[in-house]
Amino acid sequence: RHILLINGPNLNLLGKREPHIYGSTTLDDVVAQAQAQAESLGVTLSTFQSNHEGAIVDRIQEVAGWGPNVLPDSPPQKKVSAIIINPGALTHTSVAVRDALLAIDVPFVELHVSNVHAREPWRKHSYFTDKAVAMICGMGMYGYTAALEFAARHIKVKEE
Ligand code: DQA
Repeated sequence: RHILLINGPNLNLLGKREPHIYGSTTLDDVVAQAQAQAESLGVTLSTFQSNHEGAIVDRIQEVAGWGPNVLPDSPPQKKVSAIIINPGALTHTSVAVRDALLAIDVPFVELHVSNVHAREPWRKHSYFTDKAVAMICGMGMYGYTAALEFAARHIKVKEE
């Protein structure tokens, strides 16, 4: 039971960027907390952050053993049962990341720290929500905890 957490552009700045919206917790804190939580939930967790759309597409393809990062002598991947993704601004722009997620056919949870519906109107549209198992927004950094709890539960329910 393995979960992949992907954070998109500018989420490396958590704790620094617009703290009135995103709070003071850093991405390192989020990852450390999520690793500890994963252990207590009995799942394993990989994490990935990139500011580059193509790097995120490559990482998603890798889950299915495809793409430029998977060379003939690459070690076998852990099977990923679910993905949690905060696509950052790519939420509102990226057909490419959406298509990559649909290509690999692994269930995903869409996550936003802020309430995207209470901000600029163009943040209301997401290229992900209609394909996501669930969408979490507006819970602040607790959203990461909620998303992991739900993803682990979702995997277990599917296996039973
Ligand atoms: C975000 C919301 C997006 O609109 C924004 O571009 C982000 C972060 C969030 O976590 O609230 O970078 O995904």
